[in-house]
Amino acid sequence: MRHRRPVVAAVPGRELAGAARAQAEGRVSAVGVSNWPISSLQRMEALGQELPEVNQVEVHVGWHEDDLIDYCHARGIVVQAASPLARFAPAIVGAPAVLAAAAAHRKSPAQILLRYLIERGVAPIPSAHSSAYQRENLAVLQFQLDAHEVAALGGVVAACRGKAADGLAKCWADPSTMMCRHHNGFTFHCP
Ligand SMILES: NC(=O)c1ccc[n+]([C@@H]2O[C@H](COP(=O)([O-])OP(=O)(O)OC[C@H]3O[C@@H](n4cnc5c(N)ncnc54)[C@H](OP(=O)(O)O)[C@@H]3O)[C@@H](O)[C@H]2O)c1
Repeated sequence: MRHRRPVVAAVPGRELAGAARAQAEGRVSAVGVSNWPISSLQRMEALGQELPEVNQVEVHVGWHEDDLIDYCHARGIVVQAASPLARFAPAIVGAPAVLAAAAAHRKSPAQILLRYLIERGVAPIPSAHSSAYQRENLAVLQFQLDAHEVAALGGVVAACRGKAADGLAKCWADPSTMMCRHHNGFTFHCP
């Protein structure tokens, strides 16, 4: 997306009100939020507030909150996928469905992960330091996955840790099987 005016990333509370005001005054073109669940968006709707144009949430083959994605899409909210490569966690990158699609299309696992999101109508924002990775990631616009492959890739999340809704609790209950990991003092759920 190209914007002539800046896009403001808002957080709940005063910042969101400020962002909405800035948009009304024409100082910003779009308001985005991050990690907002359906309940927060529903609250905005109930209050008659204008919904954000973008909701950036973690989405990848190993973690996709389909209800939230559907909710956003039904209201024209762009879902932007944070950590679209699942931080390149081996459990996700090496999932059979990922490897099968990679072999079938002669693409890398990273490209399959990104293409899955595009097929789902979600906008991936991978971070990649090297120009080689950046080129590889940009090349996902040149092929397509079929519906069976998308369904199989969507199933990785179930194989990984069950329903998204109870995944975090499971992670905490059994970090070894749910592949939690610790980094910089935070515990990341699967992975
Ligand atoms: N809103 C939020 O709460 C939230 C949460 C998490 C992340 N984010 C945002 O989401 C973006 C990406 O997230 P992320 O960095 O956590 O995870 P990510 O994009 O899923 O994974 C990044 C990792 O994948 C590697 N990689 C990139 N391209 C690759 C390729 N083609 N082949 C193999 N490995 C590849 C990178 O390697 P290198 O290290 O070599 O580059 C890096 O280790 C960032 O802008 C981040 O700020 C937002």
